[in-house]
Amino acid sequence: MEDLYGRVVTYLRVSVTDRCNLRCRYCMPLDGVRFKDLDDVLTWEELERVVRIAASLGVRRIRVTGGEPTTRPGLVDFVRAVAQTPGVEDVSMTTNGMLFADLAADLRDAGLRRVNISLDSLRAERFRSLTHFGDWDAVWRSVRAALALGLHPVKLNCVALRGVNDDELADFVALTLDQPLHVRFIELMPLGTSHPWARDKLMPLADMRQRIAERYELEAASVDGGGPASCFRVPGGAGSVGFITAMTENFCHNCNRVRLTADGELQPCLGSLLALDLRGPLRAGVSDDGLRRLIAKGIRSKPERHLMEEYLEETAGRRMWTVGG
Ligand code: GTP
Ligand code: 5AD
Ligand code: SF4
Repeated sequence: MEDLYGRVVTYLRVSVTDRCNLRCRYCMPLDGVRFKDLDDVLTWEELERVVRIAASLGVRRIRVTGGEPTTRPGLVDFVRAVAQTPGVEDVSMTTNGMLFADLAADLRDAGLRRVNISLDSLRAERFRSLTHFGDWDAVWRSVRAALALGLHPVKLNCVALRGVNDDELADFVALTLDQPLHVRFIELMPLGTSHPWARDKLMPLADMRQRIAERYELEAASVDGGGPASCFRVPGGAGSVGFITAMTENFCHNCNRVRLTADGELQPCLGSLLALDLRGPLRAGVSDDGLRRLIAKGIRSKPERHLMEEYLEETAGRRMWTVGG
């Protein structure tokens, strides 16, 4: 369905849990995170119902997110239900890869088509320090498993951080030369603990391009996905290199998505505090038509653009692990 600015919403990101087994420095504080009460988290059936009604409004792509989706038992059955929902054409997941390898075959058999794995460093010690509990080998096993199982495309999400991993950008690009890996460099957004920790760590697109140009030239390319990345590749490379530039070149005019938090809020924009409660109505016995009207209202409330460049305290206080990106 179309929003008020003529953008067609075809993509729903479904956060299935706010819990995570890592603590990426720019995302979650190490201590003191108060997770949602489990009673407040939507059941799998409630999540499936929202997906079904969203699909009846024209949503075609579902991305399963978290927190870390693989930490919630029952994920494989949920993916199967989503993949079988009439209208849904693309089921994908964003994961930190810690537990994904062991689930990958079952998820693929259930209908998961593709996966985006977060990986901010290729150096095990640095990765551990950035994530607190990250095990680089475990994540890399997930990457290998995804490739071996034919999930396609397999994307790697690397948040570029000045002075932290900017010396590795070209190494990430090197991974795309002979493997069908699709690396995306992400500008740090002022959400979660990235604000104010990391304001000086934002690498604008131009700086990322410059670091990469020291070793590689890029040409335009295209990769399956419904998201905001602009795509390139090293000529002749098997994979691709993308950039997600919410801060310096925002892509809001092309936005096609809304998100559902694990506790049932429909959020029309990552960079806004707007939210519409679906859990209350779901638990009060709302009809399918009533739910459809609510989701349509959420889509109509999509703001024209985010205001994250302004580093507003209120949006900066937003917790990425509850929204799922
Ligand atoms: P596909 O293109 O479908 O593969 O997925 P994607 O890139 O949209 O999803 P993913 O979860 O891998 O997100 C990659 C990065 O893009 C994360 O940092 C997200 O927070 C960011 N992102 C995804 N959607 C939006 C959006 O609507 N607005 C902004 N500002 N950032 C987004
Ligand atoms: N800015 C940009 N990307 C972020 N992610 C988490 N927090 C931020 C942030 N503040 C990324 C993760 C993951 C995806 C869901 O969002 O690294 O790849
Ligand atoms: Fe967990 Fe993802 Fe946040 Fe890292 S970025 S702490 S993996 S939710």
